[in-house]
Amino acid sequence: MWDTSSRRYGTVMLLSSLLLASYSLDTLDQTQKLANGQTRVSLNGTFELGFFNRTTSTTKWYIGIWYTVSPEIIVWVANHDNPLNDSSSTLSISKGTLVLIDSLQNIIWSTSVNPSMPKMSDPILKILDSGNLVLKDQNRDNILWQSFDYPSNTFLPGMKIGKDLTTGFEWNITSWKSRNDPSKGNYCYKMDTLGQPELVLWDGERIKFKTGAWVGPRFSGLPEMATYENMLNFKLFSTSKEVIYSIEADKSMRLSRIVLNETGVLQRIMWDHDQKNWYVYWFWPNDMCDSYAKCGPFGTCNSNEAPICKCLPGFSPKSPKEWTMRNNLGGCERETPLNCQGNSYGFKSVKSVKLPDTENATVDASISIMECKRRCSINCSCLAYSLLDISGGGSGCIMWGYEYDLIDIKYIEGGQDLYLKLDKSYLDATGKRKIQVLIGIMVPTTVMLLVLLTVHCIRLRRRKIKTGYPDLGKEKSNYKESGSLHDTELPMFDLETVKAATANFSDANKLGQGGFGIVYKGVLSGGEEIAVKRLSKGSSQGLNEFKNEVMLIAKLQHRNLVRLLGCCIHDSERILIYEFMPNKSLDFFIFDKVRREVLSWTMRLEIVAGISRGILYLHQDSRFNIIHRDLKAANILLDKEMTPKVSDFGIARLFKREQNEMDTGRVVGTRGYMSPEYAMEGKISVKSDVYSFGVLLLEIISGKRNQGNHNLIAYAWQLWQAGRIIQLADEAIDNAGSVASDIVRFIHVGLLCVQECADDRPTMSTVLSMLSNEGMSLPEPKKPVLSTKITPESSSSPIELTLTCIEGR
Ligand SMILES: *[C@@H]1O[C@H](CO)[C@@H](O)[C@H](O)[C@H]1NC(C)=O
Ligand SMILES: *[C@@H]1O[C@H](CO)[C@@H](O)[C@H](O)[C@H]1NC(C)=O
Ligand SMILES: *[C@@H]1O[C@H](CO)[C@@H](O)[C@H](O)[C@H]1NC(C)=O
Ligand SMILES: *[C@@H]1O[C@H](CO)[C@@H](O)[C@H](O)[C@H]1NC(C)=O
Ligand SMILES: *[C@@H]1O[C@H](CO)[C@@H](O)[C@H](O)[C@H]1NC(C)=O
Ligand SMILES: *[C@@H]1O[C@H](CO)[C@@H](O)[C@H](O)[C@H]1NC(C)=O
Ligand SMILES: *[C@@H]1O[C@H](CO)[C@@H](O)[C@H](O)[C@H]1NC(C)=O
Repeated sequence: MWDTSSRRYGTVMLLSSLLLASYSLDTLDQTQKLANGQTRVSLNGTFELGFFNRTTSTTKWYIGIWYTVSPEIIVWVANHDNPLNDSSSTLSISKGTLVLIDSLQNIIWSTSVNPSMPKMSDPILKILDSGNLVLKDQNRDNILWQSFDYPSNTFLPGMKIGKDLTTGFEWNITSWKSRNDPSKGNYCYKMDTLGQPELVLWDGERIKFKTGAWVGPRFSGLPEMATYENMLNFKLFSTSKEVIYSIEADKSMRLSRIVLNETGVLQRIMWDHDQKNWYVYWFWPNDMCDSYAKCGPFGTCNSNEAPICKCLPGFSPKSPKEWTMRNNLGGCERETPLNCQGNSYGFKSVKSVKLPDTENATVDASISIMECKRRCSINCSCLAYSLLDISGGGSGCIMWGYEYDLIDIKYIEGGQDLYLKLDKSYLDATGKRKIQVLIGIMVPTTVMLLVLLTVHCIRLRRRKIKTGYPDLGKEKSNYKESGSLHDTELPMFDLETVKAATANFSDANKLGQGGFGIVYKGVLSGGEEIAVKRLSKGSSQGLNEFKNEVMLIAKLQHRNLVRLLGCCIHDSERILIYEFMPNKSLDFFIFDKVRREVLSWTMRLEIVAGISRGILYLHQDSRFNIIHRDLKAANILLDKEMTPKVSDFGIARLFKREQNEMDTGRVVGTRGYMSPEYAMEGKISVKSDVYSFGVLLLEIISGKRNQGNHNLIAYAWQLWQAGRIIQLADEAIDNAGSVASDIVRFIHVGLLCVQECADDRPTMSTVLSMLSNEGMSLPEPKKPVLSTKITPESSSSPIELTLTCIEGR
């Protein structure tokens, strides 16, 4: 009896050691010890458990889990705070716990014992394909301990962030202290269960950011969560016992992790299997408005505007002086006290926002938004309300009380609406009614209107535009029709005028087609030539938002910007009217064999300088800090003196759902001009414009397109390295004398502008001084990204390219 069983045992041993020789096993049983140098690999080979070291001043050893494809990426660490000093330690199972024992038999680290779990007879340790390390009964599924309950700085699909409300146990993500030190750092990402659940990023004792309340499919302040299609499913389970947030990955999803990095930034990082590289898909916080309570109580934050802080309607800055100095933490206060009697108040919608902090809000999932509104309107201590769950048709109710502040409101694309209780005098009437009110009751306003109309008249005359603009009578009726343009300086055209000018948008009048619409040439009845941009229907913005944006664009006036003359709004039609540029666009010249002969070096120099002044104005000198987003030769127009004028600026802002983000995998912009960080992460900044400008500069000098099979940047870089950069210049340029050194300097600046890392690129003001200052010594350009392969068609892998400058930092 004894004999046979022991023989059988021997056979099993033999078998398993054979297996050991040919396969990586995924388990450790009670008889085994895992020594330094040995590992266990999950069944399908994704994750590996073992010892790893980090060298600081002395080498420290840890037990951890990493990806087999990329062993330097540690997703979990056991002995965070107790590194081993030598390499002769072992991991083993002892009395139902996992223990890490050093060479002197000290226990350095061990798993906690869950007293509620039954004793196990035969526990084993197993590394699963999800990356979870579990201590479980060999034959049953009850888990004694699992690494997913003790996250490190990495949040993997299947893990949780949350709270057990009965025991107080928390699942949270904590940063490492530094790149080589996995001990607990200052940042912690955890669940906040007060009010409607949300996640909070803490910096020690201070709230750094909040995601905003969970509103059904996502957190209120993270609309980009909707952009993963179905590759990742975000879930929040909330019961009286626990509140848990987790992410499930679809089978087709590539390796992906969220890391809370040492600087307190959450990054979603994905694995590009072909390039064998990790790339940052998304990170958060990513703009100034993410900072908690940035604009104080009753303030709203919009990072697309300058200044970024505004007060809610009906509120004004508490301390106007501090507010103008952009110290906004003091926030705003109500202008007119709210009289909670009769019907002297109503609700105003604050559009497309991250909801205010719900810490002290009242939540009711069982009622409709109509009922929510009714309850809030009859309840004097209710200040505002909104939808609780935005999925489907929307349902549920959040109400904010009068005695608390509305705080941490941020404008976001695709945000939800907040309904704010306000005195009737602040409420929107329809356009018509407003005008009636203005004219009928408010005499001073009528007078103002007349003054403004007179100003128009003078302006129009000054611009010598004789006819074609609507006459004053018509203009008045336009104002009535469209409601609130009474304070504008921008002429409104009616659709009939535009149609007549363009022969009903005839193809014969088509000048070009861009990302945002088609441009036609038009002639007004007085003979004045105009360019008419008929925006594509994607600009689904509300009327008022649209007008505000157009007003903003109209205010941008510079010698090197194309001037906006007016606009036309009719039903869903949105049209912009610009001054007409007789010499077409730059691409018409520089890429044409014959026509580019006309462009002498002096002309090219003037053109480059003019473009850079125009961009500098957009970036910095205008009050609005506009990023162009689509600079290219076709967007540089030339007037009759060949003065370059940047066109299409600000237009991206007219499109409510800006398509620059990676949501659909579509990136607006033009191949060849897109900076790598924009192409890859949809990340837009003044430096992405600088990149496009750099490409444009190289094109102007070389007379060659950076497009198709011709990678101008790679070619320029090759010549630069070979010390033959002057060969890049167009043969049509006479490069005799001192011209050659100017050409080389310009190309040098171009190469500085197309450097891979945005931080390395100069700003436009530096570019201008580099271009104009012969004596200035320029830094050596770093290698640009030489090839970018973008596949917008495939939604699961929008971008196949890696930014080494982000990973490297
Ligand atoms: C640290 O680990 C690496 C890879 O496992 C190994 O090559 C190296 O020798 C270790 N360093 C020390 C000081 O043991
Ligand atoms: C490692 O060395 C440090 C400094 O000598 C000591 O404080 C620490 O206790 C040692 N750790 C272990 C696990 O031996
Ligand atoms: C291994 O399993 C995990 C979890 O099921 C899955 O996400 C991953 O794609 C699998 N990897 C391979 C190489 O099959
Ligand atoms: C994170 O969770 C762990 C485990 O529950 C807990 O000990 C720790 O205090 C939590 N950290 C913070 C900052 O709440
Ligand atoms: C943290 O992530 C941000 C955003 O991707 C990045 O800019 C920063 O360099 C990262 N910090 C570290 C220490 O990796
Ligand atoms: C919620 O109420 C508490 C207690 O009055 C207060 O300290 C806290 O600031 C309030 N939170 C918000 C977001 O208003
Ligand atoms: C009135 O609104 C406040 C704030 O939302 C809420 O706390 C209170 O329960 C409401 N009262 C009633 C009777 O609904």
